[in-house]
Amino acid sequence: MKPIIRTEDLGKYFGEMAAVHAVNLNVQQGLFTSVIGPNGAGKTTLINLLSGYLLPDTGRIFFRDTEITRWEPHRRVKIGISRSFQVMNIFPRMTVFQNILLAVLSRLNKNSNPFSSLKSQKAAVEEAEKILNEVWLWKEKDHPASQISHGDQRLLELGIAVATDPQLCFLDEPSSGMNPIERIKVLELVKKLAAERKTTFVIVEHDMDVVFSLSDRIVVMNRGKILAEGKPDEIRGNQEVRDIYLGEEI
Ligand SMILES: Nc1ncnc2c1ncn2[C@@H]1O[C@H](COP(=O)(O)OP(=O)(O)OP(=O)(O)O)[C@@H](O)[C@H]1O
Ligand SMILES: [Mg+2]
Repeated sequence: MKPIIRTEDLGKYFGEMAAVHAVNLNVQQGLFTSVIGPNGAGKTTLINLLSGYLLPDTGRIFFRDTEITRWEPHRRVKIGISRSFQVMNIFPRMTVFQNILLAVLSRLNKNSNPFSSLKSQKAAVEEAEKILNEVWLWKEKDHPASQISHGDQRLLELGIAVATDPQLCFLDEPSSGMNPIERIKVLELVKKLAAERKTTFVIVEHDMDVVFSLSDRIVVMNRGKILAEGKPDEIRGNQEVRDIYLGEEI
């Protein structure tokens, strides 16, 4: 199988700190991949490099056969890469519906004025409504984004991330701030979207129950490096991984 995204010797350094170091990542298309690791391991930095929000100091990034190492984020979105953020990235005063619609419009009208054609506006509204249903936000659609619950705001972020119809989507802690039941629900939703939309998801997640039950592949990072990569059972049996998660159930 060919990877959908891969890196060669990727590195990002903040002064003395090797946030990401010598990372050779291979993500296979269609496999639900989780990136785990302790706080400060470099997970967010890696996602930032892959999605173009940071530029690497060393190494290269390939999306399928195309090298995208220094591409701007919006150019990556156009070829099918999107992401959500660990910290909320929504327009608080706009309604839930408007937040999704804006993301859809940005895709449908890539090269023109988003408000130019009535026909494309109608298609965008329909698409936004479909996404609202998919991410369970129909009932909240007319509320300002700032006034919905924290859990619903995470769902909104997910909706915005899929609104660009990505082939590859990075989610940085999509269930942060949720209770354990909400966590499993939102990650099951991501899996469902992955299957229905044929999107490859790479998620950063701290909830080990969720990670081990839902992932096809797990990438373990520690101190900027990939410590281990494999199927959940392989990772569970890895002594080095057990050591860095000392005391936690994995
Ligand atoms: N902009 C920055 N400037 C300086 N240091 C940074 C910057 N961004 C990240 N770092 C450092 O790089 C290392 C990796 O950070 P990163 O945010 O990627 O970790 P993480 O695995 O996402 O952690 P968490 O689980 O807490 O979200 C940390 O030591 C962090 O302090
Ligand atoms: Mg992080």
